[in-house]
Amino acid sequence: MQKLSSIRLPWPTDWAALFGAERPLILEIGFGYGAFLKHLARTNPDANIVGIEIANQCLASVERAVEREKLTNVRIIQSMAETALHHLFTPATLSQVHINFPDPWFKSRHSHRRLMQRDTLDVIVSRLQPEAALYLATDIIEYAEMSAELLASTPGLDNVLPTPWANAMVGRVVTKYEGRAQREGRACYYFAYRRNAQPAPEVPVIVEGEMTHVVFKTPLSLDDILARFEGVENRPDADTIIKSLHSYRGDNVVMFEMFTHEPTIDQHYALVVSPRENDNEYTLKVGTLGYPRHTPGLQKAVAFMGDWLVRLHPDAVIVHHKLGEY
Ligand SMILES: C[S@@+](CC[C@H](N)C(=O)[O-])C[C@H]1O[C@@H](n2cnc3c(N)ncnc32)[C@H](O)[C@@H]1O
Repeated sequence: MQKLSSIRLPWPTDWAALFGAERPLILEIGFGYGAFLKHLARTNPDANIVGIEIANQCLASVERAVEREKLTNVRIIQSMAETALHHLFTPATLSQVHINFPDPWFKSRHSHRRLMQRDTLDVIVSRLQPEAALYLATDIIEYAEMSAELLASTPGLDNVLPTPWANAMVGRVVTKYEGRAQREGRACYYFAYRRNAQPAPEVPVIVEGEMTHVVFKTPLSLDDILARFEGVENRPDADTIIKSLHSYRGDNVVMFEMFTHEPTIDQHYALVVSPRENDNEYTLKVGTLGYPRHTPGLQKAVAFMGDWLVRLHPDAVIVHHKLGEY
C-alpha cells in the first residue's frame, strides 16, 4: 500500500475521492499499534476511517495489518495531528474523532506540543459535524483533570456522560497503552462529548500560498556566498522559527538546507540561489527537494534569506521579488 502523508496529500483533501465513496468520516489521532483503528474499521463498514500517526514503526506495522486484513475502509496518514486538522480537513466534516492515551510524557519539556490544548481543541470542534462525537481516553489523572477543565469550557461541545469522565466504557476494544495501564493497576479515564449547535470557532483550512522568489544583484560570486554562509536562526514572529542549517555548492547553484517550524507544520527543505542571464543577478527560490509546501513560514524564510543575501555586500540590492505579504 502506498504511504500517505499530510505533506503529499492535497490541502484540503478530497476524502470521498481518496476512499472512492462519500461516507461518514471518522478520525483517530495517534493510533499507535492500531488495535482501536482496526476495531473502528470492522465495526463501521459504512464509514471512511482515517488514522493519523507520527511514529514510523506504528505506521509501517498498521499499514501491513490493514492490508493483511483487507480493511478497505481505512487510510493511514503519516501526519502530526495539528497538520492534518488544519490543512487536510474542512470545517464540519468529521462524524467522530477518537484520541486514545495521548501524550504519556505531557509533564516533560514536550508539554507545549500537548494534544489537548485550546488551539487544537478549537480546530477539532471546527472540523466536527453537528451531533458528531469526540472521545478521549487517558490513564493519567492530571491529564484527565486538565482535559475535563478544557472540555467543560468549550461552548461547542456537550458532555454525554453524567460525570466529567467514566472509569469504564462498554464495548471498547483495549488498546496497547490501555492494556498496560490495566495490567499495572492504573485507572483509566474516558470522555465522551457531542458537538452541539453553538457556532464553532472559525479555524480556516490552511492552503498553500503563492510560490515566492527574490531576484537580487550582488558583486559576490556563488563561491563568495557559500564562503560567507553561517547557520542562523530567525523568529519572524512568536509562532515561527526559521533555521538555515547548511549550504552546498552545485554546478551552477548554491543550496541552503532549511528548517521551518510553524504551529501547524514543520518542514525541512532547500532554498536555491542560481545566477540569471544579467550580470551579477541571482534568483533565490524554494527548491523541489523534500516536497516543500508553500506555507506562510516558507514565504517568510524566502524573505529572510533574501534579506540575508543582500546584507552580505554593501552594493547588493533586491531587483524584484514575489513574497506574498512578506
Ligand atoms: C501513548 S501512545 C498511544 C497509542 C495508542 N493510541 C494506544 O492507546 O495504544 C500515543 C501515540 O500518539 C502518537 N502521537 C503523539 N503526538 C502526536 C501528534 N501530535 N500527532 C499524531 N500522533 C501523535 C504517538 O506517536 C503515539 O503512537
